[in-house]
Amino acid sequence: MSTDTAAQILDGQALAARLRGELKAVMTNRLAANLRPPGLAVILVGDDPASEIYVKHKGRDCQEVGFKSETRHLSATTTQTELMDMIDELNADDTIDGVLVQAPLPRHLDARAVTERISPNKDVDGFHPYNVGRLALRDPLLRPATPKGVMQLLELTGSVRGKDALVVGASNHVGRPMSLELLLAGCTVTTAHRFTNDLEDQVRRAEILVSAVGRPRLIPGEWVREGAVVIDIGITREGGRLHGDIEFETASKRASWITPVPGGVGPMTRIGVLQNTLFAAEQLHS
Ligand code: GUN
Repeated sequence: MSTDTAAQILDGQALAARLRGELKAVMTNRLAANLRPPGLAVILVGDDPASEIYVKHKGRDCQEVGFKSETRHLSATTTQTELMDMIDELNADDTIDGVLVQAPLPRHLDARAVTERISPNKDVDGFHPYNVGRLALRDPLLRPATPKGVMQLLELTGSVRGKDALVVGASNHVGRPMSLELLLAGCTVTTAHRFTNDLEDQVRRAEILVSAVGRPRLIPGEWVREGAVVIDIGITREGGRLHGDIEFETASKRASWITPVPGGVGPMTRIGVLQNTLFAAEQLHS
């Protein structure tokens, strides 16, 4: 039976704007207390156009809320040593609370070594094994920005405790920490991945469906459980348009809440980085 009523939209743009407002208020208090602004350093290696846009957005976000922002643009032929030296310099900089190296890196660079070089208390991406481990052990410090943003969207839908959640995708940066966040919030979590036998069966059971694969139309709308909360993290550019993993038209008639693409999770990832930068300044570097 279909309720045939449209889902409520989980508007990441609006929530992110409200949360930036909260950060501005915190900044006003920090300035009054003579505290320095939190600082975010972003390193971009090479000329990937999408990465350039992401990095520009991060700088603009910092400017809007009054954080210090530093962007370091390195050439595509930068060596591992040059990149590591830059991370060391930023790790030692007392005006910088967060260091982020934009992914993806050129193939000749060792991304794992880069992740592990960033000081865990400046790791505002939450990708360092220390921070992933803290999340896995139910005592998170800096939490991966996208899952952190998704959890704040889910708060708008009511309590998630006890819900059956499915995360489609098991990447280190998104799918895995997303599953850990939902587990920490009290969901019964299933993680689907490339070896999952019957994705349709898993999707049909999920009260909370999160997809983080990056393959348009991976999940037909008819698979979505009636009343489910649907979060689409996948973003693929196709024919000049952005597409999520989940077929929106039908899914939005079955879900109770659903994120649009774009305007759902994307803005929440950006706010997650800002929140982590403030957290590092207040809790880890004060
Ligand atoms: N590339 C795309 N999204 C992200 C992100 O959240 N962090 C980093 N470091 N790189 C990215």
